[in-house]
Amino acid sequence: MYSLLRPFLFALPPEAAHAAALGALSFSPRLASLLAPRVAARPRRRLGLLFPNPVGLAAGWDKDGKALEGLSAFGFGFVEIGTVTPRPQPGNPRPRLFRLLEHEALINRMGFNNEGMEALAQRLERLRRRPPVLGINIGRNKDTPNEEADRDYRACLERLFPYADYFTINVSSPNTPGLRGLQSASALRTLASALLDARERLETRHGRRPPLLFKLAPDLASQELDALAAAVRELGIEGLVLTNTTLARPGLERHPLAREPGGLSGRPLRPLAETILREMRERLGPEPLLIGVGGILSAEDAERRFAAGADLIQLYTGLIFRGPSLIAECARAAPAETMP
Ligand SMILES: Cc1cc2nc3c(=O)[nH]c(=O)nc-3n(C[C@H](O)[C@H](O)[C@H](O)COP(=O)(O)O)c2cc1C
Repeated sequence: MYSLLRPFLFALPPEAAHAAALGALSFSPRLASLLAPRVAARPRRRLGLLFPNPVGLAAGWDKDGKALEGLSAFGFGFVEIGTVTPRPQPGNPRPRLFRLLEHEALINRMGFNNEGMEALAQRLERLRRRPPVLGINIGRNKDTPNEEADRDYRACLERLFPYADYFTINVSSPNTPGLRGLQSASALRTLASALLDARERLETRHGRRPPLLFKLAPDLASQELDALAAAVRELGIEGLVLTNTTLARPGLERHPLAREPGGLSGRPLRPLAETILREMRERLGPEPLLIGVGGILSAEDAERRFAAGADLIQLYTGLIFRGPSLIAECARAAPAETMP
């Protein structure tokens, strides 16, 4: 079915194709049922949450939670919405999304275009059908300096606390100037401590404790991974999402769009994202949850990511090129687990 739709979507400029798909799914959630593959059950329990299968939608596709009902019908084991910021913001000027067809890749510099946490909270309040597990990815506004970033993350945590099964703290988008500075081990320690304290207080008020995961870039050197792994262990951070898009252009040197500023996703990102995940699993041992994301476009890619140590995986660019049947293929590739 997606093979019939894809030529129409690919005839549109990338951002228009995205808007059409998002619009169609939010207008008619039943459309998702037509496109939905049959996804095998591969249940696992992690961080106190029950995932019917370990294949999720990555952040950025549905930043404002507009198509959650449609997305829930697709068979994802979990859906991550956002990145959402405290205040609405328009993002970068267009064009800001580019398709590199022959490489099955995208370059984007969207810049956290979103309607803000208040609009999202109100939408989630009205939601009739939820995905099995809902993650909310949060960020800072473009004009908030890193020194005050904890205020933005805390505001999102507080406003969205009742709705999230888990939060992802995005410190790795390459399209918000300076944001990646929050990935240094010392900055991450300060931010994580503030957010873990905030969660402690919110837990008392709400009687629930959604896990906080941190999303990192693939452009980290080995010593940076050492320092980050030490911080994760010391602070008892529950999990990492590995990885965001890359500033590198592996194998694309001669492509006319390779010079477009922004983050690269899709097939060329796979080796980098897989390596970072394996290296972090080696450093951290079995305990923290690791979500593998980046360049998963086939069952084999998924199998390799699980073998590298991922508990769960997420898809974005693969869905654009392969369609929703990729969810089912990847779920089949996941190792079966005996449920406790
Ligand atoms: C157009 C676009 C927008 C994205 N927006 C976000 C975002 O808002 N927050 C985020 O954490 N990641 C965002 N991402 C990154 C994806 O969640 C994912 O980490 C990355 O694309 C690598 O996975 P993939 O190769 O399967 O696409 C975005 C990616 C794309 C292509």
